[in-house]
Amino acid sequence: MEVVIQPNASAAADLVAQIIARELRANPRAVLGLATGGTMESVYDRLVRLHRETGLDFSGCRTFNLDEYIGLSGNHLNSYRHYMNQHLFRQVNIDLRHTHLPDGVAVDLEKECADYERLITQAGGIDLQLLGIGRNGHLGFNEPLSAFRSRTRISTLSPETIEQNAGLFGGPENMPRRAITMGVGTILDGRRCVLLATGPDKAAILAQAVEGPITSMISATALQLHPHCTVIADEAAGSRLKKADYYRTIFNHDPKWEKFRQPADNFSFYQPSSLPEMIK
Ligand code: F6R
Repeated sequence: MEVVIQPNASAAADLVAQIIARELRANPRAVLGLATGGTMESVYDRLVRLHRETGLDFSGCRTFNLDEYIGLSGNHLNSYRHYMNQHLFRQVNIDLRHTHLPDGVAVDLEKECADYERLITQAGGIDLQLLGIGRNGHLGFNEPLSAFRSRTRISTLSPETIEQNAGLFGGPENMPRRAITMGVGTILDGRRCVLLATGPDKAAILAQAVEGPITSMISATALQLHPHCTVIADEAAGSRLKKADYYRTIFNHDPKWEKFRQPADNFSFYQPSSLPEMIK
């Protein structure tokens, strides 16, 4: 696992967008694993901007999202399909037929889960899996005690997750109680994982996920087993990491990060002049 601490949430999202852009430029037919949630909005904003300003091309890529609420159709404002269409798919040149989310209103939910796994395999597996982290350490909707070898399946939302997401539904009573989620094993099969965590609310759980003991009580600790996982945090989310200084040293000295290093005070995603340099 590698950990990068960026000065603020904006710089952290910039870095994630740069990593995805590089992946797409190197491999225009890349299979991307995508996540939803508040944290990811800033990443998608930046990808849309890269598409508009530098022509970042999504036409050949395929995407698989981590999860979808059971009982919500793609037209529902709180469905993750709606979120993805709004924040990314309808804003870039992706072929909507190449974008996949589990169908939360499938008649046969078990079959839907098995089909989703099959589709990922048929696409050649996921090249880069984007991840957020829930306040209880979930990845997708892999709640506490999710087996590390679990595959796409039905999950029952934990009380912490219901509390975390209830605001979007106007209260917990309006929230679905179940979801379809890729399993922890499905996520670990991705060739690269990139987890973004920002804000003070994520500090405690991020420290447990990165530096704590591996346990299925905290699904994100499974990422410690992944051969190529990059965790990107802002200072607030990284504030409880015991080895933060060491992670900074690695980022500042390892040649592989050279193209991504920018002095915090003169780097802004929104300076158009910085874009050509960023995406080399
Ligand atoms: C949703 C997903 C979740 C979120 C997590 C953090 O597709 O994968 O694991 O990443 O709940 O959500 P935010 O960013 O809203 O704090």
